[in-house]
Amino acid sequence: MLVSGREILKDALKNEYAVPAFNFANMENLQAIIEGAEELNSPVIIQTTQGAINYAGYEYLADLGKGAAQRSKVPVALHLDHGTDFEYHLKAIRLGWTSLMIDGSKYDFKTNVNMVKQIIKIARPLNISVEAELGVIGGKEDDNEIEYQIYTEDQEAVRFYNETKCDSLAIAVGTVHGVYNGEIKIDFDRIKNIKKEINIPLVLHGSSGIPDNMLIKAVESGINKVNFDTEVKIANFKAMNEFVKNNPGVYDIREIFKPCREAMKKVVMEKIKACKSMDRA
Ligand code: G3H
Ligand code: ZN
Repeated sequence: MLVSGREILKDALKNEYAVPAFNFANMENLQAIIEGAEELNSPVIIQTTQGAINYAGYEYLADLGKGAAQRSKVPVALHLDHGTDFEYHLKAIRLGWTSLMIDGSKYDFKTNVNMVKQIIKIARPLNISVEAELGVIGGKEDDNEIEYQIYTEDQEAVRFYNETKCDSLAIAVGTVHGVYNGEIKIDFDRIKNIKKEINIPLVLHGSSGIPDNMLIKAVESGINKVNFDTEVKIANFKAMNEFVKNNPGVYDIREIFKPCREAMKKVVMEKIKACKSMDRA
């Protein structure tokens, strides 16, 4: 069923687990997510970046996302990931997205606050959840690359929450978007401190490549939504490469995408387990 992000995150906050959020850009990608979530009886967030919308089109993604969610046995929220331009939020609201991220993290504190407040004014009466971001999570996200990080400060997070009353907050605690090159370090104490100060769902971005034990620790420290993209894409890429190498001359689109879908589903199921969201639907 299609539900608001508010509903999904409320339960995760109350019961101390995280809802996994996976990006999708086409049908097989989406099927892998929904099938994986259904098999483990987990709520799930399916999310689209502005880049995915540019690639597939609003209407196609709305039809795919809402259709899959409405037919699903598990609660599914359709989320706009890293929305930076209001026109995307407005169109997503009109087409039925049930959760939005307004990412003003590259702007100064006051501008970020004002951007969040503007979206909340429209989204709240419609029961659409609004995720904000404070601090800077570096790396490659969608079509943008940011080469630095600014960790989220707990007192700034308190001020930010008091001024915006956002539904959830993405925090910078050491993770980066895309592929990790060096050692992964997550500031678990920072997560705990922020959670102690503002008891709202906290969001971890850049979660591909993080070992399960660290993901579990992040969830135990207070994370209630975990975003995954790159790792699912890499699973698709590897499966496709392998298939094409082993089956030269096979051009049937269904044959090529079948192993890709399975490979993506496997990653989805692993992440659901690490988030402790299985049997929470
Ligand atoms: O917003 C999306 C995520 O933060 C994805 O990050 O590609 O590193 O998994 P990732
Ligand atoms: Zn992200």
